Amino acid sequence: MTESESKSEALLAEAMKVFPGGVGSSARGIRAGWDPYPPFIAQGTGSHITDVDGNEYVDYLMGLGPLLLGHRPPEVTAAVVDAIQRFGTVFGLPYELEAEAARKVVDAVPSVDMVRFANSGSEAVGTAVRLARAVTGRKLIVRFEGHYHGWLDTVYWSNHPDPAVAGPPERPITVPAGKGLLPEVADSLVVLTWNDPESFTAVMDQIGDQVAAVITEPAVLNTGCILPEPGWLELLRAKTTEHGALLIFDEVITGFRFARGGGQEFFGVMPDITTMAKGLGGGFPVAAIGGTRAVMEAIGDGRYSHSGTYNSNVIQTAAVSATMDLLTPDRYVTARAIGTRLMDGITSLLKEKGVTGHVVGLGTVFQVWMGTDEPIRNWRDAARLADEELFTRWWRAMMARGVLFHPAQFENLFVSMAHTDADVDRTLEAAEGALASL
Ligand SMILES: Cc1ncc(COP(=O)(O)O)c(C=O)c1O
Repeated sequence: MTESESKSEALLAEAMKVFPGGVGSSARGIRAGWDPYPPFIAQGTGSHITDVDGNEYVDYLMGLGPLLLGHRPPEVTAAVVDAIQRFGTVFGLPYELEAEAARKVVDAVPSVDMVRFANSGSEAVGTAVRLARAVTGRKLIVRFEGHYHGWLDTVYWSNHPDPAVAGPPERPITVPAGKGLLPEVADSLVVLTWNDPESFTAVMDQIGDQVAAVITEPAVLNTGCILPEPGWLELLRAKTTEHGALLIFDEVITGFRFARGGGQEFFGVMPDITTMAKGLGGGFPVAAIGGTRAVMEAIGDGRYSHSGTYNSNVIQTAAVSATMDLLTPDRYVTARAIGTRLMDGITSLLKEKGVTGHVVGLGTVFQVWMGTDEPIRNWRDAARLADEELFTRWWRAMMARGVLFHPAQFENLFVSMAHTDADVDRTLEAAEGALASL
């Protein structure tokens, strides 16, 4: 290592020899925007993270969402360690704690009567989609551009398609999100534009009787932060019910984040199936699929086999049980207030420093849309209006001032229950310098 080289840079070069891109998930690599190299992390505590070069940051990446309680919440860590020491990790048989964890999730999430645990959000979505087909006997899944539902072949289409090749917004073409997807899978998907009642109504009225499910994030956190317009989620609910299709809320990010009961509680619209992951286990890897009794009974009565060696293992259920106990209403009030103060502070600073941009979010998750004051309602708006180059400069300027978040305009900033007013003060001071430098 030369003196000018950072430890992170040297570690990345070493890792690249054996690890594609030098990172364990593509969102962490240089190609995802961590240019010239991602910081290698030494440790995270609460709302702060330190890299191997000794840089300490206020963390708003927060593991890309799961750290709703901050890094290493002591109560959750203790519960997991204790459960492993007392009884084990996996049994291939049921045990008492898993039903206790399930009961707590069912109590928290209003539309969910029954739940099964899984290992990742992608897996939960894969289960949800196939379960919807099993229950309805129909083929088509309606999904929206700009949403990300994980990497399984069934849904890994039209996440962020190039508008030049994606067809008209009122009837987009289904575009693979990468190589290796079978073209025939496209025939099982109908891709539409979010927050666009006309095209959704027209398509449902035409082919709604062939639709197994409509899948949506209740708020789009995979294209910056986009909120549902008044009546939009209600329309999705009404039209799916009218045509005998199921409504799937992919609450992998929104679950437990806006409110204990997730986006469905916050927006007051109830789906048939809910997928959950980030926020569910205090940073431990766990996901869940939940639904109404009528839908989930298809698993219980054997019409649908939901299996998995690691489903519902002790690490997951101990983490879920302890996390649910910590997600108290007062913690939501505090975290939302802290996040809202940060959002408002950045909004004022954008104006003060004459930088065009606006902030959208709900306190505990938000994004700064750079280069535009126009409202962003869906992927097409985001692709047309957001200034990704300006965002990159803002990100660099904030990193240099000790504030960490994802370099991509279409990701977002996560505020956890461990963030404090002192973190907001420090972040706003950094933002003042960063925006002045733009
Ligand atoms: C809404 C949504 N669904 C599904 C997934 C996939 O979850 P995982 O990365 O745990 O497979 C993600 C991941 O970011 C997500 O944001």
